[in-house]
Amino acid sequence: MRALTLLGAVALLLVDQSSAFKAHDFKTCSQSGFCRRGRALSARAKEAKSSWVSPYSVDPSSVHISLDHAVFTAAVKSSLYPEINFGLEVRIQDDGVARVRMDEVGGLRKRYNEAASWALIAEPALSKTIKWTTGKKDIRAVYGDKKDIEVVVAYEPLRVTLLRNGKEQIVLNGRGLLHMEHFRNKIEPPTTTEEPEPVEGEGAEGEKVEGEAEGQAVLKVESENPRAWFEGKEEDAFWEETFLQWTDSKPKGPESLSLDITFPNHGSVYGIPQHATRIALPSTEGENPTFTDPYRLYNADVFEYLASSPVSLYGSIPLMHAHSTDSTVAVFHVVGSETWIDVSHPSDRSTETHWISESGILDTFLLPGPTAEEVFKQYARLTGTAVLPAQWSLGYHQCRWNYISSEDVRTVQKRFDEEDMPVDVFWLDIEHAADHKYFMWNEKTFPDPIEMTNDVAANGRKMVVIVDPHLKRVSDYPAYKSASELGILVKPKSGEGEYEGWCWPGSSSWTDFFNPAAWDWWKSMFKIQPGDKWSWTKSTTDIHIWNDMNEPSVFNGPEITMPKDNIHYGGWEHRDIHNINGMLFSNLTYQAVAERTDPPTRPFVLTRAFYAGSQRFGAMWTGDNLGTWEHMAVNVKMVLANGLGGLSFAGSDVGGFFGNPEPEMLVRWYQVGAFAPFFRAHAHIDTKRREPFLLEDPYKGIVKDTLRLRYTMLPIWYTAFRETTVTGMPVLRPQFIMFPKDKAGFDMDDQYYIGSTGLLVKPITEKGATQTTVHLAEDQVYYDYFNNYAHRGASKGKDITVAAALNQIPLLIRGGSILPTRERPRRASSLMKDDPFTLRVALNKAGSARGELYLDDGVTYDHTKGDFIWREFVAEKASKKGLKIESRDLGKAKPAEAVDGVALASYNPANSFAKSVEDVRVEKIVVVGLATKPTNVKIEDGKELVWEYTPGVAAGDKKGGTASVLTIKDPKTLIAKDWAIVIQ
Ligand code: NOJ
Repeated sequence: MRALTLLGAVALLLVDQSSAFKAHDFKTCSQSGFCRRGRALSARAKEAKSSWVSPYSVDPSSVHISLDHAVFTAAVKSSLYPEINFGLEVRIQDDGVARVRMDEVGGLRKRYNEAASWALIAEPALSKTIKWTTGKKDIRAVYGDKKDIEVVVAYEPLRVTLLRNGKEQIVLNGRGLLHMEHFRNKIEPPTTTEEPEPVEGEGAEGEKVEGEAEGQAVLKVESENPRAWFEGKEEDAFWEETFLQWTDSKPKGPESLSLDITFPNHGSVYGIPQHATRIALPSTEGENPTFTDPYRLYNADVFEYLASSPVSLYGSIPLMHAHSTDSTVAVFHVVGSETWIDVSHPSDRSTETHWISESGILDTFLLPGPTAEEVFKQYARLTGTAVLPAQWSLGYHQCRWNYISSEDVRTVQKRFDEEDMPVDVFWLDIEHAADHKYFMWNEKTFPDPIEMTNDVAANGRKMVVIVDPHLKRVSDYPAYKSASELGILVKPKSGEGEYEGWCWPGSSSWTDFFNPAAWDWWKSMFKIQPGDKWSWTKSTTDIHIWNDMNEPSVFNGPEITMPKDNIHYGGWEHRDIHNINGMLFSNLTYQAVAERTDPPTRPFVLTRAFYAGSQRFGAMWTGDNLGTWEHMAVNVKMVLANGLGGLSFAGSDVGGFFGNPEPEMLVRWYQVGAFAPFFRAHAHIDTKRREPFLLEDPYKGIVKDTLRLRYTMLPIWYTAFRETTVTGMPVLRPQFIMFPKDKAGFDMDDQYYIGSTGLLVKPITEKGATQTTVHLAEDQVYYDYFNNYAHRGASKGKDITVAAALNQIPLLIRGGSILPTRERPRRASSLMKDDPFTLRVALNKAGSARGELYLDDGVTYDHTKGDFIWREFVAEKASKKGLKIESRDLGKAKPAEAVDGVALASYNPANSFAKSVEDVRVEKIVVVGLATKPTNVKIEDGKELVWEYTPGVAAGDKKGGTASVLTIKDPKTLIAKDWAIVIQ
């Protein structure tokens, strides 16, 4: 059954997938020259304590303020190297974000300065009102609606501080660890000695050398080194550097960037995905650090990654939030090169971080918040909001490596249908492609790809097919041949020819997506119209794309990726752009798929590698997880952390990629997946088949119910996604975002809310659980989604116990919410288009509730022209005892906030989408938590409706009880129309 080609088998052997995580394949900080230097710098500073002073200072005479006052520039000097010039620039944006940039001026070479151009959607608009005031010791600006924000740039030493109400929020170089290594020529010292193997931890003169790596040749400069107090005695790995069998030629020499960022009044920090750890980032330094290495950002294909570790994984987003009961702020440090970040908490009210990057200019945005909501808005203005996904992509995705033939796909689809299990998408992994030449089908196993796709599409479903970035280097592969002819492949360190490495197809080359000449070429690869120069004729517009291995993964490369001295467009080294590389691939794929139809339709592209801005191009998943409870639990946290990085459309392989999960674990994993934004089951080629229909009862039934539950909730998910596309707020919201003043929730990452819908979920990730604890941060009633049990929180926060047997998902509705669902089981989401809605009105303790529903055609971009419905449901006290439930047109009320931030002044309630759903009914309204039995329930000014009431049992009790339930059957209302129901 293993459809591996010989080369594929060789490739598998090369990565030796037989044993667990191989730490030795990846560098620790002490094995990476620039990280070692960065940490040694911080160690020296610590040792010197208060006598440590940053050598960097601003030359006050050089300060220049732009005509519009928003920007100032100044010359910066380092007392270490008075002959080297640096330029500083600080800009204040119109939303209060401060951007600090520094570069070497007139240096021997140029530092990479294009990272922001890939991450940002546009050049940010500058403040029109700001005024810098220069003083003897600093330059400062006060701004904000309440004039409560202040940015102060102190001259000597250089220190940048953002304050609010006089309180320091973010400080750059407060600890004096700023160091921009200038470009220099390699000087072979007249007398150098190649040291014998150094004794661990000892330098030349028998002194302690911080973090000196074993086997690292240290070049001794014999003359007295006046900069030793700051840079250390030795030139540690300035030039050539070797790791295992790979030597990095480092032709530009040292060019690292070290920067300390302190949050003096924030005790918790979040973000910088992707790491397998808690969302409130544990310390890597200071007393009792959880991890001994810094968090690393270096996109990597890490085999069997650990469930708790700071090692880098597949994607990197250099955005960090800092939170306290007072405020939330963030820093966005736009660097594309490998970066290590130390985190420590000198007290539980402050956080120190140290960012060490291999190359690139300093380009750091200070996001002043002061709330998480504001931070997400500020970040979204920089890098864009998430794209509104095709609605079907929020359904369930069935994948494995591999469905081995078109017949296999048909059989799997048939089995889902026989079991009445909903599914929207069937996926094909790499074995569908002849010799792993993407766009070319293995004709033996997939003789009829169009017919197969049509068979899937006939049931309202889609297919996703993998397209990896490596191109098999054979002349009969048109993709490789044309890329080679166009000269758009990544080059080796010589800058000549094509870089060659190994991946699934064997000898491969990689397209350089930094080269604009590659863009149209890549899009042309996806064209399906016969007559196009190249056309993927055996494809249809029902096929969407999975971009894997785009870190890029290179089996025989250093740390399973490309050598850093490879050359990209513009002469930049791979080291400069490594973390951005994967995003460009999914960006171009996204554009290519959109353009397959005219007018374009919403593509679905899944990517493994990502960077800041990747939210604009689709979904990500947490890569090759293990079928263990630890991985299930940490994947929940990783998905939350990705949302904090702006990338909400995230999920993990349901079931675990490696291993054969026992039924209990598989069931729990489905429950985790059903409450993740991206819901896909996937499995390694060596695992046993585990499609949900293969399970025995009761497991099969539970999974079927879970799948159906996801489908009933698709309107909730879609509405939550719509909100994200407007506000940048994550789809999954951890406790600290929802309740910023509740300290008990700051570290909480195993329960979360779905958008602002009021749904609170705590997926079970523990074997044998029968109950769990849920934290309620407020004095509010929370109803069990399934049985309407009313739990009562407390103003100081309260932990409640919730039943969690295998068939139970701890899912609560926050009192005060109205949830729209579609309760009729269907085989695929597209078949639900005309289905009626159920509204679940969960009253808060004051007896009111509100909720929203956003809906559009789910596939085109017509929503950007105003073709959608956006409804608000409000339940309010009508008279002393009465309740009125109203449906209002939010599209009309808030056109400018509709979608993608596009001002839609032209929104027309009678738009063509609204027309297409004008007959769609509300089939049921369930009101939970009424205090007394109504006497009548009517359409306003209309007839009595059919209703049923079940009284509550001790519902008002502080300990909790079952809430009353009023069910209005067929309330004779339409989902897209205004109406009111009065309950008396
Ligand atoms: C690695 C991916 O992470 C995994 O999901 C996929 O199945 C294999 N590559 C084969 O394509």
